[in-house]
Amino acid sequence: MEILGIDIGGSGIKGAVVNTTDGTLITERHRIATPQPATPEAVAETVSELTNHFSYVGSIGCGFPALIRNGLVKTAANIDKTWLEVPVESLLSNATGQKVFVINDADAAGLGELRFGAGNGHPGMVMVLTIGTGIGSAIIHKGILLPATELGHLVFRGKSAEKYCSDAIREREDLTWERWGKRLNNYLLHLEMLFSPDLFILGGGVSKKFDKFKSQLVTKTQVMPASLQNMAGIIGAACYAADNQNFV
Ligand code: BGC
Repeated sequence: MEILGIDIGGSGIKGAVVNTTDGTLITERHRIATPQPATPEAVAETVSELTNHFSYVGSIGCGFPALIRNGLVKTAANIDKTWLEVPVESLLSNATGQKVFVINDADAAGLGELRFGAGNGHPGMVMVLTIGTGIGSAIIHKGILLPATELGHLVFRGKSAEKYCSDAIREREDLTWERWGKRLNNYLLHLEMLFSPDLFILGGGVSKKFDKFKSQLVTKTQVMPASLQNMAGIIGAACYAADNQNFV
């Protein structure tokens, strides 16, 4: 199936038409800067512009950086607060004139990595963490996603974990890769104790810098960088739409 996958992020809204059977791209990736302020109306207009760029007609899968329940936005940790309670699926469907399926961005990246990336076909329990401005999480067991886990908001050392070891915190506190890697390791050890995953996959911008901090990671669980890098969210979102379009 050929489906348009879109990844809505804080600085860019990216998309490509994806072959959801083998995870390859049918078109090049196209990126439009996220409008500022990133209000629901402005983002919807950009998603429509992106869809028109591909002259695309059909179901669309879209990753969004918040907790989504029944098509509604439920949290706004790192997005414009006006998104709270917005029916994002119908907003984007109306703006594009296509049926849009919205999934949490980390869940989308998790699906992408599991099907076509670092976790390809993994038979056990995989935890995918996307590390950027915030921390997103996806838990996939025997290929099935347990959605909306939000482990970046697990309270760790007195605060939301993403306020302790996101990439934004590394930059803001000017941490060396070594010091930040130690923090990440503490967080991974905690997740390991709670969930006993078989594999951690680290996505987001830091996946490209894995060599700079991997020596700090001492979990028993294997840790791998995401291999689809900035394509995982787009590919996973397209797969989500492909999986769900017959269930509406
Ligand atoms: C949000 C998650 C999101 C993550 C990465 C967190 O602040 O609560 O829903 O997956 O950031 O974008």
